[in-house]
Amino acid sequence: MRKYRPDPVPETEIKKILDAANQAPSAMNRQQWEFIVVTKTETIRELGISFGAVIEELTRNLPASSGHGSLSREEFIRFAETYGGAPVAIVVLTDRVDTEDFRRANLESASAAMENLLLAATALGLGTCWMTGPLQDGKALRRILSIPDTKELVAVTPLGYPAEVPPAPARIDPDLVQKVRWVR
Ligand SMILES: Cc1cc2nc3c(=O)[nH]c(=O)nc-3n(C[C@H](O)[C@H](O)[C@H](O)COP(=O)(O)O)c2cc1C
Repeated sequence: MRKYRPDPVPETEIKKILDAANQAPSAMNRQQWEFIVVTKTETIRELGISFGAVIEELTRNLPASSGHGSLSREEFIRFAETYGGAPVAIVVLTDRVDTEDFRRANLESASAAMENLLLAATALGLGTCWMTGPLQDGKALRRILSIPDTKELVAVTPLGYPAEVPPAPARIDPDLVQKVRWVR
């Protein structure tokens, strides 16, 4: 979802969503994910202004029609700037580690938590948008939210009641002909 109503999301609902995220499987059961829940309007605004400027710069040489998927460049910049008008933004973090195999395990486990978070939000009638774009603006994200270097940024999602529900994008291989190989 990329357009949200400004209505606040009750903390009880946010906690249910975080609980679902916290139930995800994790490598060696380390449960090393962390979440920052931003409900302060000025902070979401501050994050958006910084992120919007980065997206504007990164897409400078793209044609106006190409932004992200079906979004035009202008719409994509606007979404970055406002987080779609969502009243909540959630940042998912994981422990930073030096070895590639541990790093991968941490990112995959935190991604499982992220997916649980998205599904729980959907079940409660809320909208989300898994975003790694804000990591392009990681320095500002860390400064604004006081995130230490011992944590790796995984993803960000706006959270709110959707103002607009776009149709689900078509699957590339809906009948799972090319993507599945059975060994019977
Ligand atoms: C790892 C990952 C990163 C993504 N990053 C962004 C992003 O930075 N900005 C954005 O608008 N959407 C982002 N998306 C959302 C995808 O664009 C979206 O999932 C895809 O277009 C399919 O749409 P659907 O989720 O409605 O099926 C991301 C999704 C994933 C899984």
